[in-house]
Amino acid sequence: MAAIRLDKLLAQSGERSRSDAAKLVRAGCVTVDGQPVRDPAAKADAELSRVLLNGQAVTDEAYRYYLFHKPAGVLTAARDRSAQTVMDLVPPALAKRDVLPVGRLDKDTTGLLLLTNDGELAHRLLSPKRHVWKEYLVAVDGPLTTQDVEAFACGMELSDFTAKPAELTVLSTAPDGAQAVVRLAEGKFHQVKRMFAARGRNVLTLHRQAFGPLKLDVPEGTHRPLTEEEIAALHLAAQG
Ligand code: URA
Repeated sequence: MAAIRLDKLLAQSGERSRSDAAKLVRAGCVTVDGQPVRDPAAKADAELSRVLLNGQAVTDEAYRYYLFHKPAGVLTAARDRSAQTVMDLVPPALAKRDVLPVGRLDKDTTGLLLLTNDGELAHRLLSPKRHVWKEYLVAVDGPLTTQDVEAFACGMELSDFTAKPAELTVLSTAPDGAQAVVRLAEGKFHQVKRMFAARGRNVLTLHRQAFGPLKLDVPEGTHRPLTEEEIAALHLAAQG
């Protein structure tokens, strides 16, 4: 990559307009090889120089990876005519770079969604041949028993497929409801809700707190870029 203006580099690499990028440079948030640079027109090559924005490395790599905290009531889709989608809640620059959600959470499900434009990785993460663990916090409308834990562990016959063994950990249980953590390596349509339905329970709330090596750690409706370590761990998980 050739040297380009700092405001252009920041706009390309992040989720901000060129004018916002220029403001950040003027505000002294950017260093090039350890030196603060306040001129948005100053040029740098992100491959040859270490460009930092508020201490975070700025790169112009083609692939982007973000962890997003999906709120309830939002569709996991790129666009929808009437309903709000997860892509409406992130800066338009991400959609321009073809960043999309990996897999789906139901409209009423909250929690961790991976967003990326690395289609190859997304495909591998979703492939039934890999075993990428997803972890959900679930509230159901009745008690959960050791028989339920065993039924999840054995793999469950559903109407159109047999769910692979899953881990059910009961956190609290009472006659009128229970809370549990479910870990499963599949991601079929409505799978968690269908597994509980097969045990006679309705899911009241469903929240994904982990996806492979990623743990949810941002407030609802917000996102952050993955760290280098997380991206490497995801690639590793996608091989499994
Ligand atoms: N299982 C479901 O039933 N719904 C989701 O959104 C995710 C997993």
